[in-house]
Amino acid sequence: MTHEIAVVPGDGIGREVTPAATDVLNALEIDFEFVEAEAGDAVAEETGAPLPEETYDLAASADATLFGAAGETAADVILPLREAVGSFVNVRPARAYPGVDAVRPETDLVFLRENTEGVYAGHEDRLTDDVATLTRVTTETASRRLAEFACEYTRDGDHDGFTIAHKANVMRETDGLFRETVAEVASDEGVATDEVLMDAFATEICLDPEQFDVVVCPNLAGDVLSDLAAGLVGGLGLLPSANVGPDRALFEPVHGTAPDIAGEGVANPAAAILSAAMLLEYLEYDEEASAVRSAVESTLEDGPRTPDLGGDAKTEDVTNAIIERL
Ligand code: NAI
Ligand code: MG
Repeated sequence: MTHEIAVVPGDGIGREVTPAATDVLNALEIDFEFVEAEAGDAVAEETGAPLPEETYDLAASADATLFGAAGETAADVILPLREAVGSFVNVRPARAYPGVDAVRPETDLVFLRENTEGVYAGHEDRLTDDVATLTRVTTETASRRLAEFACEYTRDGDHDGFTIAHKANVMRETDGLFRETVAEVASDEGVATDEVLMDAFATEICLDPEQFDVVVCPNLAGDVLSDLAAGLVGGLGLLPSANVGPDRALFEPVHGTAPDIAGEGVANPAAAILSAAMLLEYLEYDEEASAVRSAVESTLEDGPRTPDLGGDAKTEDVTNAIIERL
């Protein structure tokens, strides 16, 4: 069976790490058909549109999409691309690796972030020169869908349960509905949950990240708290993510275009390659996914390493070392 994979490298180091990810996928005995498409600042400059219609349509019809990063136009690219795959949850694992300098080497967390609403629903107004407002949207439907995914994720991964991070003591209606719905679905499905206020959670993961495993949160909280976790495990070059919808999904490193190092061929390809491992898992190639993960882990531990991790290797050297270990 051939899997059609949309490949959207975007701008900056997206153009360097995305080919590294497809090289790794090509090294496996799986029949992939990669179809490349443009998005981001460069294509916007040429055509006026950061996300050409063909790219949107490709992501909406391919079995899965690999995305790199976009620059200033990131929001105009990634939000519609997530919509194209119908994504309702952003899965963001944050774990430290042996051999990589981390503030909290014991960190091993997965954020399941609501991906369609909350304060990112786009309802902002400038009422007067003095007053701007934002309407936060929480629906039972989206909270329920996220909770059902979280229960499945918890069971499939043999996790003990999950933590709901919210601020329902202040945002009583919106986070109240979120928390109540997620807890109710979990209870119906027999999945254990506990709860934490998101501000207290920010302190707690810095002090003692081991007390958390799977964390389910609203959109903005998931964005901010997962970036905080990135800081605990040694930086953005290591964090993959998946945007999952009912029938398709988009995989991307958490990092951006890294203009400070773009073009030098020294970007760390780990985040993009670990995103490709998440793609493999999504397409039910579990063995191949864990082989890719082990190859990345042992390369992080024994080198070669890119400059962000204290080494002097090129993106290509690290990618080749990972492929050799496969
Ligand atoms: P960034 O993630 O691009 O870079 C932050 C820092 O981390 C830089 O010092 C960079 O060199 C380093 N870094 C990131 N990924 C790395 C890798 N793989 N290997 C080695 N070092 C790495 O975030 P920043 O600087 O805030 O944004 C730069 C541009 O990227 C902006 O135009 C922003 O809009 C865009 N962006 C796009 C995203 C997306 O497409 N999903 C996400 C975040 C930012
Ligand atoms: Mg972010």
